[in-house]
Amino acid sequence: MATVAANREQETQPTGKAAGPCVMVLFGAAGDLTKRKLVPALFNLAKAKLLPRNFAVLGVSVDDLSLEQFRSQVTGFLPSEDHGIEAWEWFTERLYYERADFADPNTYSTLVDRLADIDRGRHTEGNYLFYLATAPKFFAPIVQQLGKAGLSNQENEHWRRVVIEKPFGHDVESAKALNREIKAVLQENQIYRIDHYLGKETVQNIMVFRFDNAIFEPIWNRRYIDHVQITNAETVGVEQRGGYFDTAGTLRDMVPNHMMQLLTLIAMESPISFHADGVRHEQAKVLHSIQPLDSEDVLHRSVRGQYGQGSADGEPVPGYRTEPGVSPESRTETFVALKLNIDNWRWAGVPFYLRTGKRLAKRHTEISIQFKRTPFELFRHAPHHQMQANTLVIQIQPVEGISLSFGAKIPGAVLRVGSVDMSFEYSRYFGADAYTGYEVLLYDCMIGDPTLFQRADMVEAGWTVVDPVLDVWKALPPRRFPNYAAGTWGPKEADELMERDQRQWRKIDS
Ligand code: BG6
Repeated sequence: MATVAANREQETQPTGKAAGPCVMVLFGAAGDLTKRKLVPALFNLAKAKLLPRNFAVLGVSVDDLSLEQFRSQVTGFLPSEDHGIEAWEWFTERLYYERADFADPNTYSTLVDRLADIDRGRHTEGNYLFYLATAPKFFAPIVQQLGKAGLSNQENEHWRRVVIEKPFGHDVESAKALNREIKAVLQENQIYRIDHYLGKETVQNIMVFRFDNAIFEPIWNRRYIDHVQITNAETVGVEQRGGYFDTAGTLRDMVPNHMMQLLTLIAMESPISFHADGVRHEQAKVLHSIQPLDSEDVLHRSVRGQYGQGSADGEPVPGYRTEPGVSPESRTETFVALKLNIDNWRWAGVPFYLRTGKRLAKRHTEISIQFKRTPFELFRHAPHHQMQANTLVIQIQPVEGISLSFGAKIPGAVLRVGSVDMSFEYSRYFGADAYTGYEVLLYDCMIGDPTLFQRADMVEAGWTVVDPVLDVWKALPPRRFPNYAAGTWGPKEADELMERDQRQWRKIDS
């Protein structure tokens, strides 16, 4: 991640340098991710002049598309009023397409020739960024074939990098096996395991907030913090992804990756530098400090749920078991709540509560840091005294911002105390953000900065946290699914998890 100090006037101006010459080879080029996120992000980079002058995208997929069809398919998602003719032409003429079967070795010899042609025409100097936006079963085979075809060799001063999408394995063993397979071909510094949560502005801002402000760090520990809540709530169901989702479930889909990113950024120590391994080392230490859950813990500290029919945005919606691609007897969870403890000096005794689910009451992702109450409640007899502890809320989406609640005197002759907020909203201060979140990640791959990507050990450590839960849940299938109605805040067991600790989930207005 390029660092640049900004003031209010200059903060939205592009400030980085354009990346060096390269071809981005996009496996899975006809897929959803390419259309919805990757191409719009590349186009935003083009408009910000952060793409290399000598650049091309080679889309690879099994679909039988002409170059024209490919160009219009992937650019169909770009907002037309926003094209900016010059950037538009510049970008679209750099899009190429190759129809290919990922499993066929001949594909890769064809790619060698195509890429050599593009290098000659576009002066891309043999630097290739392979982006695997494919089904996970292709990750290892593609990397192996790239190796056999000599496409992963970094020699004669050119670089070769591979971006791997999630899911990276489906448990700790499969993640280790995948790491072994790809590391048999690639060096660790050629591998970019992507987690799109790290592309979100507010997620990156957690580090700036914590480590560039002197006032928070002294209270960021067990002496002042009572507990932390991380909520990721979606209103969508499984949409067209029922087939994948029914084999994965929310625990695998969200927790070892996105939820762990949020947790590590909140819990990590200050890195000694803002270089990739400085940051990732501290994140990995947090993951290793999470107290392993034994079977008994899983029973008491984890909750799973599955939505039944209900509503979303005021409209009736079906239950999970009747979604396309989902088994009518499915026992797959669409909601998870977990209580985790971190065994280190900073966090001993401070629980981290996580909850994430689909078809919840509101789309909302936030981290709330709940501080301890005052040691002595001076105003406890005042009317309206809400006895609320201070809460710092980092809102990730859809609203991006930070707010701090504190007690204040309600105006009037009688002493009354209420809770008020100091709040910062990104869009009010910096203007609306048209970025997809992938811009920074793609740019970083091109400039070779892996700070915002997962190292092998981090991915494995994330799985290590959830593996015991997967095992116990598999051994004890849920008895009462579906157990929450679409459009609510999840099963009542999630509330009970908090109530057992005399706490409650922060109320999020629906
Ligand atoms: C993806 C999951 O990684 O993240 C999806 O596979 C989930 O199931 C999505 O909906 C959430 O991402 P965001 O950016 O919308 O919070």
